Amino acid sequence: MKTKLIRVDAQELHDGKNESREALREAGEIIRQGGLVAFPTETVYGLGGDALNPESSKKIYAAKGRPSDNPLIIHIADIKDLEKIVKEIPQSAYQLADVFWPGPLTMILPKSEEVPYQTTGGLNTVAVRMPSHPVALEFIREAGGYVAAPSANLSGKPSPTKAKYVVQDMDGRIDMIIDGDGVDIGLESTIVDLTGDKPMILRPGYITKEMLDIVLGQVETDPTLFDLDSKEAPKAPGMKYRHYAPKGELVLVEGSPEAVVSYINEQTSLHRQQGEKTGVIGTSEMTGRYEADSVKIAGSREDETAIARQLYTFLREFDDEDVAYMYAESFAGTGMRQAIMNRLLKAAGHKIIKVN
Ligand code: TXA
Ligand code: MG
Repeated sequence: MKTKLIRVDAQELHDGKNESREALREAGEIIRQGGLVAFPTETVYGLGGDALNPESSKKIYAAKGRPSDNPLIIHIADIKDLEKIVKEIPQSAYQLADVFWPGPLTMILPKSEEVPYQTTGGLNTVAVRMPSHPVALEFIREAGGYVAAPSANLSGKPSPTKAKYVVQDMDGRIDMIIDGDGVDIGLESTIVDLTGDKPMILRPGYITKEMLDIVLGQVETDPTLFDLDSKEAPKAPGMKYRHYAPKGELVLVEGSPEAVVSYINEQTSLHRQQGEKTGVIGTSEMTGRYEADSVKIAGSREDETAIARQLYTFLREFDDEDVAYMYAESFAGTGMRQAIMNRLLKAAGHKIIKVN
């Protein structure tokens, strides 16, 4: 299959440039015909198909190489479109939508009969999100209003934060890729389940527990997410996979700055003796102290949005640079740090070393 690559600039779209509109119309037509189009969102790039067409969902699983028990998120562009795909919309969904939509929040709700089981991985619930990226919103409308989209990476690879990574993974596998530049947030949306007794976070993200608490009162967090020894499966089926994984081996290093630097530098020199490259993900407070072959500085320790935005890009760059061993400073904490640590722990297969 030949994959068409088009560029749609959010600003040009906003300015009403005809070419941008035309391009999105063509992309929407592909979805209506049962094809697949990758598109930018504010979190990561998505791999879209018609959410109400079971054949499209099957194609998505095939293109990603993803197990088909891992349900897809349906992306909508207008709140009124929720009614068609959700059986009963709880008040809490409207409260959250009021504050966080369009934006990086996905809600789990009871599905209506319109939604095929191929899209929900056999579940009676459906994940829904209204993204805020202007290109995504216009594309969804052109596509008929319901776009099922997982992240546009091959299964097991870090989610794409730039169109070039979508091309790397999806060229020849899908009909079209919309290049809308780099993404804003860099980590996948927060997922909150509204089908249980109490709202529960199934995947942490930019919208934090603290932010959800303000709107809904106490929100719980899936206890399996941070329990390294949990025997129970996470409630979002996708969270059980070792995901976001780079080719090399990643380890998180926790401890005082001095201990972290000296441990990583020791390991670097051991790997160097074996002829292997070492990479580090660190913060600007530690600039100049690491001796690794490839040092990626995410920004200040205080600036978690900068760390989130670049994390997947760094993991992909390490792959391109053939880095065999990677070390990351630990970012344990509350708020968005929960999302960063969750993705780092998954990329590291939960390998974390404490030094002091
Ligand atoms: O930011 C995002 O959410 C991106 C962009 C493209 O919107 N999408 C994304 O999709 O991250 P994906 O497929 O990579 O991750 C979806 C996650 C999976 O962990 C899946 O198991 C979970 O959502 N999920 C989907 N439907 C669910 C449901 N009905 N119940 C529980 N978990 C669900
Ligand atoms: Mg994904």
